[in-house]
Amino acid sequence: MNQIKIPFLNLRAQHDPLRAELMAAFQEVIDTNAFAGGPFVSRFEEDFAKFCQTNHAIGVGNGTDALWFALLACGVGPGDEVITVSHTFMATAEAISFTGAKPVFVDIDPETYTMDPALIEKAITPQTKAIIPVHLYGQMADMDPIMKIARRRRLFVIEDACQAHGAEYEGRKAGSIGDAGCFSFYPGKNLGALGEAGAVVTNDPILAGKMRVLRDHGQQTKYFHSVVGWNGRMDGIQGAALRIKLRGLAEGNAARRAHAQHYSQLLTGTEGIVTPKIASYGLPVFHLYVVRVQERDRLLDTLGQRGIACGIHYPKPVHLQEAYAHLGMSRGALPVTESCADEILSLPMFPELTPAQVETVAREVKSLVVGSKTAVAL
Ligand SMILES: Cc1ncc(COP(=O)(O)O)c(C=O)c1O
Repeated sequence: MNQIKIPFLNLRAQHDPLRAELMAAFQEVIDTNAFAGGPFVSRFEEDFAKFCQTNHAIGVGNGTDALWFALLACGVGPGDEVITVSHTFMATAEAISFTGAKPVFVDIDPETYTMDPALIEKAITPQTKAIIPVHLYGQMADMDPIMKIARRRRLFVIEDACQAHGAEYEGRKAGSIGDAGCFSFYPGKNLGALGEAGAVVTNDPILAGKMRVLRDHGQQTKYFHSVVGWNGRMDGIQGAALRIKLRGLAEGNAARRAHAQHYSQLLTGTEGIVTPKIASYGLPVFHLYVVRVQERDRLLDTLGQRGIACGIHYPKPVHLQEAYAHLGMSRGALPVTESCADEILSLPMFPELTPAQVETVAREVKSLVVGSKTAVAL
């Protein structure tokens, strides 16, 4: 087995410079018994709301809970339909299903890999209650046309911003445009906890109030439950860690953008490689740097053998997953999504990546893609 030379992600490099500060914060949490919710979570909520340009942030257990609580607060339930994309992590659809509603998938834009707004109207039925655009890979969906349709058709918009902490759409932050924005702080995200955590941001005080109650067993006063809720609180330890890590988020995002630009300089124009397109409306945060190539699986394996860890996000679209077989969607239903899933390859991407590492990855990718062309030609 080859020693990995370039990891996909290096959390150790991210945490080492913060170790003393994190340890001191954990001690404070331990000394004050502030483990479930509490002041460390509240302080992070304040900072994160400010960062997202919203009035409220509600800390929860993970990004899946964030989506679920946002949908529940919007009143989505059995018999309803929610329009979203299939080119996403399974959790987007799971949250819809766990309200009792049905996910309705539309195809994506082939350049941004996010929801194609031109396909929304056709998917709306009398049962449609909400739309969930997903800001995949750190690039925002085209929010203006989505919001226009939603407002005209009186639908809620919940942004799945789980991969887009700090991304912008014409100067507006991810999560601040729809009725609510949902974030995951899974450790590998641009803002990652030291375990599981998530948050919903919103400018709507009514939705915010509902979500605060939902995440805490439906209680506003201890042991008095106004609605049936859930245990979806954020841990105090995660709130403390996230508050420290939030301070470095903008810098980390800038480093990711610089690496992405470097990758694109080296790879764009190479026959057989499609590099990411940056939409004119946005400032992406490159949670992932994803290229499209033919023979993706062979490339992934060979890069792995050469010590370069890559990934696929995601290899099987949600509508083709066994879990959603009951929807009766087969191959061909969402052609852009399906062709993407066969060709996408995520290259190593994290703020501490070095320019030399970017160059090594680009060189190896290029040599393999060009090599495969020569092999075919022979
Ligand atoms: C697009 C998207 N939606 C939802 C989620 C769910 O977040 P979590 O893993 O924190 O539940 C994730 C995270 O993996 C994600 O990438």
